[in-house]
Amino acid sequence: MSSEDLDAWRIAYLGRQGAVTLLLRGLGELPPEQRRETGAAANALRRDLEVALEARQVEVERNSIEALESGSIDVSLPGRHGLVGRLHPITQTMRDMLAALSEMGFQVVEGPEVEWERYNFDALRIPSHHPARDSHDTFWMEQGTDLPNAVLLRTHTSPNQVRFMEQNDPPVRIAVPGRVYRYEATDATHEWMFHQVEILAVDQGINMAHMKGTLTQVAQSLFGRDRAVRFRCSYFPFVEPGAEVDIQCDLCMGAGCRSCGNEGWLEICGAGMVHREIVENVGYDADRYTGFAAGFGVERIAMLRHGIDDMRHFFANDLRFLRQF
Ligand code: FA5
Repeated sequence: MSSEDLDAWRIAYLGRQGAVTLLLRGLGELPPEQRRETGAAANALRRDLEVALEARQVEVERNSIEALESGSIDVSLPGRHGLVGRLHPITQTMRDMLAALSEMGFQVVEGPEVEWERYNFDALRIPSHHPARDSHDTFWMEQGTDLPNAVLLRTHTSPNQVRFMEQNDPPVRIAVPGRVYRYEATDATHEWMFHQVEILAVDQGINMAHMKGTLTQVAQSLFGRDRAVRFRCSYFPFVEPGAEVDIQCDLCMGAGCRSCGNEGWLEICGAGMVHREIVENVGYDADRYTGFAAGFGVERIAMLRHGIDDMRHFFANDLRFLRQF
């Protein structure tokens, strides 16, 4: 018998509406000659039941303690672990990059993912007729006619160069992490949403040696000191000269293999010296101030660090993949 059953029994016989209680309460209605005898018997019954109840209560309690002690609950059994989350591999790589840049004196700032056409393109010397727009397949937002400018999902983090310089005097040393969007067909090395880390340094006397030194330092802090870095000429309308930065392939160390498309090198970022026109347009004295900028693709870097062969794994939400990091 459980303590609940016992309690139900008590209520049924000895409770306020219980059978014995009602019997005692009804004594007054009996003829006087029956009252004494029936009353005595009913009281004796109540006492007997109370004594029996008490004995049973002690027994039920002892049984439940014995059940506990006999090990139906093993208090030494380890508890169940809750699920522990972890940082996404892209977040980990991004944080490592920002830690390296912070150590070099770069301040981390952020900008909007929904951007004006002006900051994403025009202010970076990419007017609407410019072929460089073609390489940034763009998600345009539908807009009302009252907006002064078209609105889009930013295609790179470079708009923050102009945004920051417009609001702040030199010297500038910033790192801007964030998501960017391109209306692309996805494949193993292209996503329609990916992450970049932009860096911008503007000060008196900044030259390409500073750019090469800084980018080499960032690359080697991510990939190790024994990996060579190379700079190739490239073109971006907002820098002059422009460069692309490659890191030596991990597998063949520059000799050329399948993983690097026989190049021996893998691209990690675009870079260059900030175009003089942009320095002037934000109101800085372009005769005194020069600077460099770079934009790293975080997914590509994370793939290189972990030996991942397909970028689409990152945001497929498959825990079997994500739990490995
Ligand atoms: C740019 O986005 C320039 N804003 C970079 C820059 C900044 C140049 C400052 C000069 C000065 P690009 O389109 O090459 O450049 O992209 C930069 C990096 O983003 C690439 O090196 C690559 O790592 C990554 N990337 C580009 N497209 C994709 C994509 N579809 N999916 C994933 N990563 C991409």
